[in-house]
Amino acid sequence: MSETHHVCPAERAGFLTGRLRSMVHNPERILAQYVKKGAVVVDIGCGPGFFTCPVAEMAGEEGRVIAVDLQEEMLQKLRQRAGEKGLLSRIELCRADVNSLNVNLKGEADFVLAFYMVHEVPDKEALFTQIYDILKSGGRILIIEPAFHVGKGEFKQTLDIALTKGLEIIESSEGIIDLKALLVKTG
Ligand SMILES: C[S@@+](CC[C@H](N)C(=O)[O-])C[C@H]1O[C@@H](n2cnc3c(N)ncnc32)[C@H](O)[C@@H]1O
Repeated sequence: MSETHHVCPAERAGFLTGRLRSMVHNPERILAQYVKKGAVVVDIGCGPGFFTCPVAEMAGEEGRVIAVDLQEEMLQKLRQRAGEKGLLSRIELCRADVNSLNVNLKGEADFVLAFYMVHEVPDKEALFTQIYDILKSGGRILIIEPAFHVGKGEFKQTLDIALTKGLEIIESSEGIIDLKALLVKTG
């Protein structure tokens, strides 16, 4: 399958936050094991904040959550969602450019989440260079890609790029719905 760089439009944000999504992608089940109180977390390609808000709860008041997205409309939806949940003060919103996350962190993040976003980024070399720089030593990144969009070959290529940037794979799996990999910065 050829690589896909189509960006999920903000008009489809409702699909990302709907009830069906909660059944398939329970944020607690997926993320509680990685996000502890006080953690510094970066949610790249955060969209309307389906994961960002639960992550802000998990990191607590002493945590720091940076939510990054290319589209201002997505950040606006997150702003509203987080405001309604009383979580906005815990979340820093960051507008990315297509090949720059524009995150002002160096070796500080405990955890990076890249949920259904890596296949939308044309320059994955640049993406993983930035992720490596953002992470602290021992920090981890969870990549989850949609199996219905991203082939196993494309996912392997993505992981190969991450490896060339110095990240190491802790575990990976290929399910019917999701392709997943957890990586760590050891250096
Ligand atoms: C399919 S949505 C997933 C949103 C969210 N992670 C979720 O799972 O609900 C992908 C998001 O990644 C964002 N995105 C795509 N390319 C990006 C880039 N180069 N930098 C930052 N965000 C990007 C899109 O704007 C979109 O909001």
